[in-house]
Formats: sequence, C-alpha cells, structure tokens
Amino acid sequence: WAAHAPYIKAIRDLKREKNAVILAHNYMTPEIFHGVGDILGDSLQLAKEAAKTDADIIVQCGVHFMAETSKLMCPEKKILIPDPKAGCSLASSITAEDVRALRAAYPGVPVVTYVNTSAAVKAECDICCTSANAVKVVESLGAPRVLLIPDQYLARYVATQTKVEIISWKGACEVHERFTGAELRGYREAEPNVKIIAHPECPPDVIAEADYTGSTAGMIMWVTDHQPKRVVLVTECSMADNVAYAAPKTEFTRPCNLCPHMKRISLPKILDSLLYEKVEVTVDPAVAARARLAVERMVKLPL
Ligand code: 13P
Ligand code: SF4
Repeated sequence: WAAHAPYIKAIRDLKREKNAVILAHNYMTPEIFHGVGDILGDSLQLAKEAAKTDADIIVQCGVHFMAETSKLMCPEKKILIPDPKAGCSLASSITAEDVRALRAAYPGVPVVTYVNTSAAVKAECDICCTSANAVKVVESLGAPRVLLIPDQYLARYVATQTKVEIISWKGACEVHERFTGAELRGYREAEPNVKIIAHPECPPDVIAEADYTGSTAGMIMWVTDHQPKRVVLVTECSMADNVAYAAPKTEFTRPCNLCPHMKRISLPKILDSLLYEKVEVTVDPAVAARARLAVERMVKLPL
C-alpha cells in the first residue's frame, strides 16, 4: 500500500476539486476498490447508482460497456474510462446486426440482453438484465419464449430456473468459461465442508457443483451472511481480495482467473484520467435513446 498511497491521495484530492466520483466494479484490485472507489458493486448496482449521483464527472473503473451504461443513465455527465481498451469477450461476441438477424429468425420473440453488451446492441433489444436479475427479467415479459443474449452459459443457467423457453447466443466470458467441474470436485474431495459459490457466467458443470450461484454482489452477500469457514470463490481473482475484507472469519480458496480487461484499470491510469479528463465515453444520441429504454425498463422493474 505504501507505493499506492501517493496515487490514492492525488486521486482523492482531484475528485473533490472536480466534483467527480469513482464507480468501481467488484473486480477492481483492492487499492482501487477500497482506496479510491466511491460507489462499489456489481453491474446492476453501478447502473442504478450512476443514475443517482450528483457528481459532474464519473470515472468508471470497470470495462467499456459499464461506462456506456453510465452514459445512458446520465447523459448530461462526463463519463471517463481510464483505459478505453478495457473490453469484454461477451460484449464483443455480438453486434447490432446479429440482433437484427435474430429478430428476423424469431419474429415476435422478445429479446433480453445481458448488460455485458455495447449500447448499439442494447438499442436493438427490448430489455436489459444483469446476472443479479436475469430470471426475473425474463419472467417479467410474460412470454413463452425469450431470446437471452449473448452469454450461452448465463442463458443455460436461467433456463434451469424458469419454465420460459430460452433461446441463446454463442457468447462466453473468457474468464468464467475456463473453470471446470472437475477442478471444483477436487476442492470438495480435499475438504468436504467447503462451500462453492459461482458466477452464472460459468459453464453448467461448474454451476452443478456450486452451493450458491449469483452475481458478484450476490456472492459477497452470501459469504457475509453465511460466514462459511472455507469458501471456493469461482470468479475473477480480485473478488476474493475484496470479499476477504468484508468476511474476515472466512478462508478463501481462490481458483482465480484474471480478467485482462478489468486489470487494464490501474491507479496511475485513474489519476491521468481525472487530471486530463480522458478518455470520455460517448454514445451516439440516436442509439442512446433506444439503448436507454432497454436499461430503464430493467431498472424500473420492481425486482
Ligand atoms: P456482475 O454484474 O455480477 O458484477 O458481473 C459482471 C461481470 O462482468 C462478470 O464477469
Ligand atoms: Fe467480460 Fe468476463 Fe471480464 Fe466480466 S470477467 S468483463 S464478462 S470478460
């Protein structure tokens, strides 16, 4: 932390000076998450809180689709991302044209988009969802069949939780698809009382081994509520570091895979971002108007 301290101080000072806030996703490293983050959470919490802040500038410490979502929620604010190359394998797995083709192939079937997509893709969809509310969003439509894009694994997980027929896309999270059920069975054999909690972006054989499946915020809540002696956290590496703060009595097994996109965000880049007000994230207003509807429909649902 000594090496981080000058950056943390400079960033905190600049935030005050410029009336800026930092939205930090649960996958940020602890010096960002605990050192400079103002609003912390999963994708759903960050999208909701972005809409409420009265700051002039939001620095999005997360990936590009999250910054776009903040721009949709607060078009009048300046949204900065410390590294615009912070992408997401799910967001890059599908284009707006792909969604139009899906609509033509499945006329009348509503399209739910996971929040991990570009604003251009959201603009083609009926409603957004996150890993925290996907089942409820799908069921809120009252339709017998729903397209749930772009994560094939989230779609398969949702299909196990609802009677609605789910049609999916072929996208996958490059971080979560690397976990295997065999790996987790190994942990359980070594310690039968261990609790395994997994993100729904994991493949089905991983989720089959899990005691709990949920969003990053859901995982944190589960650990702090249940305070298990030992937990296997099946998600991105920084989560365990951040949850360990909140659950000091729990020991963590960390079969972690790094998200190379999330890890592009660092304290020096955040400082530069605030200092020079770069890189600003904008969304074409015509696209934004339609994409916003999809996000707002989700946020307004009484879930
Ligand atoms: P959460 O909405 O659960 O935080 O997930 C976002 C994400 O990118 C997970 O890989
Ligand atoms: Fe995208 Fe996966 Fe990284 Fe989340 S962890 S931002 S879904 S690549």
